[in-house]
Amino acid sequence: MLRIGMLTSGGDCQALNATMRGIVKTVLNNSEEPVEFYGFEDGYRGLIYGNFRLLSWADFSGILSQGGTILGTSRTPFKLIHEPDENGLDKVEAMKQTYSKLKLDCLCMLGGNGSTKTANLLSEEGLNVIALPKTIDNDTWGTDITFGFSSAIDVAAKAIDDIHTTASSHGRVFVIEIMGHKVGWIPLYAGVASGADVILIPEIPYDMDNVIKAIEKREKSGGRFAIIVVAEGAITKDDAKLPKKEYKKKLAERMKKYPSVAYEVAEEIANKSGREVRVALPGHTQRGGAPTAFDRIFATQCGVEAGKAILEGKAGFMVAQRNWKMVRVPLKEVAGKLKLVDPESDLVQEAKFMGISFGD
Ligand code: F6P
Repeated sequence: MLRIGMLTSGGDCQALNATMRGIVKTVLNNSEEPVEFYGFEDGYRGLIYGNFRLLSWADFSGILSQGGTILGTSRTPFKLIHEPDENGLDKVEAMKQTYSKLKLDCLCMLGGNGSTKTANLLSEEGLNVIALPKTIDNDTWGTDITFGFSSAIDVAAKAIDDIHTTASSHGRVFVIEIMGHKVGWIPLYAGVASGADVILIPEIPYDMDNVIKAIEKREKSGGRFAIIVVAEGAITKDDAKLPKKEYKKKLAERMKKYPSVAYEVAEEIANKSGREVRVALPGHTQRGGAPTAFDRIFATQCGVEAGKAILEGKAGFMVAQRNWKMVRVPLKEVAGKLKLVDPESDLVQEAKFMGISFGD
């Protein structure tokens, strides 16, 4: 008997179900022994508290195009993983116990950066863990792409497209906030896909004077409106020079005045340029709805690679894609690293050639 545990951890994304379906179909179609799948509910929480259900073939039927996760998810911050819960429970020990009680051969963990750190810890503790790169943010180190990213770009680009018509009718400047606290992959890709005039991302600190200049330049060349895409974690050049602690303090103060960064950027543009400015936030719609065809394919590839590894009795890595090939990257290499947008990358440079400003 082969016993496989599965959980989805952290913020959800569109192709989690497609990925799990890929694992299950691969294993069931190729295993010579009977297989049991245990689905842990709400991420690591299910593994800690032993909340799971036995899954059958039927659970995975009809879910390829279904967003969200049939298992539920939650955030279990890595920095708190060694802290006992409110009843004094040792979370790491509890996870190990659940794993061994169920006599699992392998645990498949669909998660992003923080979740992969926990996966690495469990792997170091002797559990057979395979991580699968989930996140709309595309910031997982070791893989060219993550599942969820393609779907999020589509949603974000569609939101920016839709703003174009109303911005044009009224001749307004629109500040559109796109997800990405630490990285700017979605704002960059969605911004280029939908013809943004300015894209502000955490990796390229901006100067508001340059943003105003870009708006004025556009107006001089006949543009009635301007689209400013702002990542959740967009940062000014001055703030980027601050020590981390000081910047965090400043952010906390700022949050008392503005619900999020877009409102501050919008107010500053309005004050400095005298133009009429509006804010739009697609928010969590970027994580919602059905996965794109591309995400379904990549998610399936990840599932198949994990399934193959299970059948080979291998674990201790994250399945990934590099140069269009599926690969396995050791968890200890992935854990704790972030894949940032390179300001010198082709797409950033091409966007600049096209006249898109990054405010730098
Ligand atoms: O990590 C995915 C993500 O959607 C980020 O882009 C965003 O900053 C964050 O999660 C939002 O988190 P929450 O769903 O907890 O509000």
